[in-house]
Amino acid sequence: MNHFHRGPDGALWAEDVPLARIAAAVGTPTYVYSRATLTRHFRVFDAAWAGVDHLVCYAVKACSNLAVLDVLARLGAGFDIVSGGELARVIAAGGDPAKVVFSGVGKTEAELEAALTAGILCVNVESAAELEQLDAVAGRMGVRAPISVRVNPDVDPKTHPYIATGLKRNKFGIGWSEARDTYRRAGELAHIEVVGLDFHIGSQLKETAPLVEAIDKAIELVDTLTADGLTIHHLDVGGGLGITYREEAPPSPDEYAQKLIARLGDRPLRVVTEPGRVIVGNAGVMLMRCLLTKRNGDTDFVVVDAGMNDALRPALYDAWHGLEPVAAPRAATRTVDVVGPVCETGDFFARDRELPEVVAGDLLAMRSAGAYGFAMASNYNSRRRPAEVLVDGDGFHVVRDREEIADLFASERVLPEP
Ligand code: LLP
Repeated sequence: MNHFHRGPDGALWAEDVPLARIAAAVGTPTYVYSRATLTRHFRVFDAAWAGVDHLVCYAVKACSNLAVLDVLARLGAGFDIVSGGELARVIAAGGDPAKVVFSGVGKTEAELEAALTAGILCVNVESAAELEQLDAVAGRMGVRAPISVRVNPDVDPKTHPYIATGLKRNKFGIGWSEARDTYRRAGELAHIEVVGLDFHIGSQLKETAPLVEAIDKAIELVDTLTADGLTIHHLDVGGGLGITYREEAPPSPDEYAQKLIARLGDRPLRVVTEPGRVIVGNAGVMLMRCLLTKRNGDTDFVVVDAGMNDALRPALYDAWHGLEPVAAPRAATRTVDVVGPVCETGDFFARDRELPEVVAGDLLAMRSAGAYGFAMASNYNSRRRPAEVLVDGDGFHVVRDREEIADLFASERVLPEP
């Protein structure tokens, strides 16, 4: 459930604010997030695990705006980070470093040092080499680094191949057959403290079966490690729960949590989760304006002022996002391609889509844009990245200004004379 709805005027609103009001004040393209939706999604997800000791670590990569992190931190969220930049954001937003887990296949020494200095909950170690490197960094700092080993359970998550991460062929985690040895080695290292076990098999998962398969394997490993004399305090089951973009029917957070909780038995394990998309995906839309319409051959094009640099998912994954006129939709419809100004044929938001008639000047909203929307925006074609707005009841806050033209090359320079 989200708080984007058609108001009494038939136009699209976020909570108690007409989206047209935001576009008039801030311009387009602009990402708009709904605080009530973020709050609801976090609470529903968190409540799904109420029966067990747990920590929900929001995956910062999905949408890392400070205001979004702030809203979630105030609700008690922990955070899953994948870089020193994300750690700095969490801290700047008031997040608690003691609730941070640090994932990723390639972490620099500087990033590991920053994480240990901040006192994070756990580093999710993804290779034998990283384990040795972390031990050395922690040794230099005179501390012990809390770790989980991210194991690669080799299960097929049945999602887009670019976002499947738990197959043997993928770069993520430590192979199943090496996991026990890695833990044995971790137990020997003076500056490593084993605290958990971690997996993440992929994103936009639409069924629980692959997760259940992964958790069963993980639990078997926890039992083996316990017998080996290690104490595994938490099991991190990653993120990945899918959302409805179009007609997908992923399990509810409750169904998902219950399926996994059922496998834990009476083991004294705290469950850590790393949801991103399910928290923020349907809590955001992207506003854009139609610049013009044109017809080439047999195709009608709606050219908008946002492009693949602003919202990459359709170009990169052929992802389907709902597109709606912001004003009350006209009765007449037309089958169109909605495209951006970027010089690539892949720069489209929809192809052969039947939409209510759109004319130059109309505002459109791209739905389900909160996750991996602004977060993947770039300056390609020297385009300024969009503004971001957070709606809160009947008011809204600009939580990121649109970039200025001067920002585009402020950190560049021409060659010295002569
Ligand atoms: N934990 C780890 C270690 C991850 O790699 C990810 C996502 C998550 C948690 C959060 O997954 P989520 O709950 O959001 O599914 N750009 C792609 C998605 C990339 C996901 C990368 N990892 C997209 O737009 O679909």
